[in-house]
Amino acid sequence: MRPDRFVDKVAFITGGGQGMGQQLAVDMAREGARVVVVDIDVQGLEETRTLLEEQNSDYLIIECDISDDVQVADAIGKTIGKYGRLDILVNNAGLLRNATIEETTNDLIDKTIDINIKGILYAIREVTPIMKRQSYGRIVNVSSITGKNGDNSTTFVYGASKGAVITITRSVARQLGPFGITCNAIAPHAVMTKMMYYWDDAKKDAMAEKIPVKRLGTVKDMSNLMMFLSSDDASFINGEVVNINGGYYMD
Ligand SMILES: NC(=O)c1ccc[n+]([C@@H]2O[C@H](COP(=O)([O-])OP(=O)(O)OC[C@H]3O[C@@H](n4cnc5c(N)ncnc54)[C@H](O)[C@@H]3O)[C@@H](O)[C@H]2O)c1
Repeated sequence: MRPDRFVDKVAFITGGGQGMGQQLAVDMAREGARVVVVDIDVQGLEETRTLLEEQNSDYLIIECDISDDVQVADAIGKTIGKYGRLDILVNNAGLLRNATIEETTNDLIDKTIDINIKGILYAIREVTPIMKRQSYGRIVNVSSITGKNGDNSTTFVYGASKGAVITITRSVARQLGPFGITCNAIAPHAVMTKMMYYWDDAKKDAMAEKIPVKRLGTVKDMSNLMMFLSSDDASFINGEVVNINGGYYMD
């Protein structure tokens, strides 16, 4: 913990109503960031608010569906309205449903692409002129092991969407690097959040056994890496997609 690591920084975190996004919002605020937390889950947002209040953080909570470009623009506008800048964008919100190829409906394909791909494109497009003006920005996208290695059991559109996140990350890194803006991604696996609702205890135990460090991932593991990539310590890292899976998958 470095209490001043994000002093003077404003961080916009999507999907901060639970899971890794919530942990990240709390941790970044504890290290001095002013955090803007967006989610569609109003109850989750209220939980995050309570956590931020408990540590006297400076924060803004906004209900926002990232698959709606107007709502994304509005949330980023409110951020600038309150804080006058936006230094860090963490595209963490995502949708995963467990379905076989045959069970993957048009609706699920559309929703997954709308949230996991379009949501990220909208947010990056919106922050780009702001970060260019500042000559400073950190963008961290959340991909997945499935974006590199394909889906094993989840809907096959999920892996497709997370593969797109990797391509987006590299394009943005190339195009915005000259403006003092870096863009990186993390590729997690087996992090115990509500998203992993379809893993029963037997599956969790079996997976932990297959992971070289012999445990599943935690939201704190993810938050630690996202904070590093969002910090000035990572200023020469650009266009990377960092595996975070205990050694289960390496490339
Ligand atoms: N848990 C894992 O093992 C794992 C592995 C690889 C990648 N990921 C990725 O990590 C990210 C965070 O996942 P998590 O495990 O914390 O999941 P989670 O389900 O606990 O949290 C996801 C959050 O995103 C929010 N969200 C969903 N759709 C949204 C929308 N349209 N607009 C705004 N917010 C929306 C949800 O309400 C939720 O609060 C996701 O992108 C996920 O795909 C997770």
